Amino acid sequence: MSAFHYSAGVLHAEDVPLTEIAARFGTPCFVYSRAQLTETYRAFDEALAGHPHLVCYAVKASSNLAILDLLARLGSGFDIVSGGELKRVLAAGGDARRVVFSGIGKSETEMREALAAGVLCFNVESESELKRLNRVAAALGTQASISLRVNPDVDAKTHPYIATGLKENKFGVPFAEALLLYREARRMPHLAVAGISCHIGSQLTELDPFVEAAQKILELVDRLAAEDIALAHIDLGGGLGIRYRDEQPPSIEAYGRALTGLLRGRRERLIVEPGRALVGNAGVLVTRVEYLKHGETKNFAVVDAAMNDLMRPSLYDAYHEVQPVVRKIARASATYDVVGPVCESGDFLARDRTLALEEGDLLAIGSAGAYGMSMSSNYNTRPRAAELMVDRDQVHLIRRRETVEQLIALERRLPD
Ligand code: LLP
Repeated sequence: MSAFHYSAGVLHAEDVPLTEIAARFGTPCFVYSRAQLTETYRAFDEALAGHPHLVCYAVKASSNLAILDLLARLGSGFDIVSGGELKRVLAAGGDARRVVFSGIGKSETEMREALAAGVLCFNVESESELKRLNRVAAALGTQASISLRVNPDVDAKTHPYIATGLKENKFGVPFAEALLLYREARRMPHLAVAGISCHIGSQLTELDPFVEAAQKILELVDRLAAEDIALAHIDLGGGLGIRYRDEQPPSIEAYGRALTGLLRGRRERLIVEPGRALVGNAGVLVTRVEYLKHGETKNFAVVDAAMNDLMRPSLYDAYHEVQPVVRKIARASATYDVVGPVCESGDFLARDRTLALEEGDLLAIGSAGAYGMSMSSNYNTRPRAAELMVDRDQVHLIRRRETVEQLIALERRLPD
């Protein structure tokens, strides 16, 4: 399903016209659909129903409290990568016992906070981290549950910036060293070995790399079992791709079938950490055309959203669909680059799109629910966009638009 659909020529989120949202809350703004988020979470949960499992939403994809709140109410766990994300999950009513803590650079403070909150598992990425965690847990007189994030050296066949499972990537412990590190972890009195984890990359559009990685991980699980290191869970990370343009990613059902099939007959609980696939297509970025500029070789539609709001096109040359909020069939169209006001030629949201535009028109940038707001910045002293959650005919303001006063509030002039 898509919650974003045209009705009488106007793009709606569920039952609400985006024109109404733009008039009430201004632009640029991110608009999410509660129904679509709910349906997508349930699809994951059902796809894994054949095996004991926990869906841990990767908070980094979109971390607004309302999104976390909704997912927590649906029973979701969370994959976090910082103390900040832990605070968000707790503030949103999430359960620390359903939280896995990933990331290669956990500070002592973050470890202490996560131990105090009682997270389910630390996904540890190096020997030094094992030692540090053991020390921090000892000082608190407690034990930390851990998994080792193993790098299976599998090609995820995705953009190099978001591939993580190859030897040359900074993530995880090398496959060949994992056994030794598990033995070492077992000897550390303040660590409890709970599981194993891996994450090979993001926006994967094929099942094979997931299967290959899982098979390697299972091989290791069997070797560990032979040494009496029994694991409670197997965490296969996130990474399932979505359709931005014409990609054909596996369905959530096919993904779930493949993973549960591989784990059939095993007792370990399956954990997955989807981010993009849960929220990506449940959100759009609504923006207004400020100017049309007809250059010698190109036409530009200068809109009020920019790379600071949605960084993916600039950073990965990513494609996001651009749709007019109000369809105007009678108008002549032209080919435009849709660009923002930021002073960089790399500031574009879309290139070479055929659109029938006039100044003042509204556009919806598609698939902006994941890695949109969460990667946004204040570059050019641009206050960040508002966020709205639509629930049938209701609109909830889930993040107010920032003000410039808020942006400069932490700064001070020099003393006289
Ligand atoms: N688990 C771990 C350990 C991760 O590092 C990530 C994403 C996920 C789960 C969630 O992956 P997903 O299901 O969303 O693919 N900014 C980039 C994506 C970076 C992904 C980083 N790690 C983008 O906009 O494409």
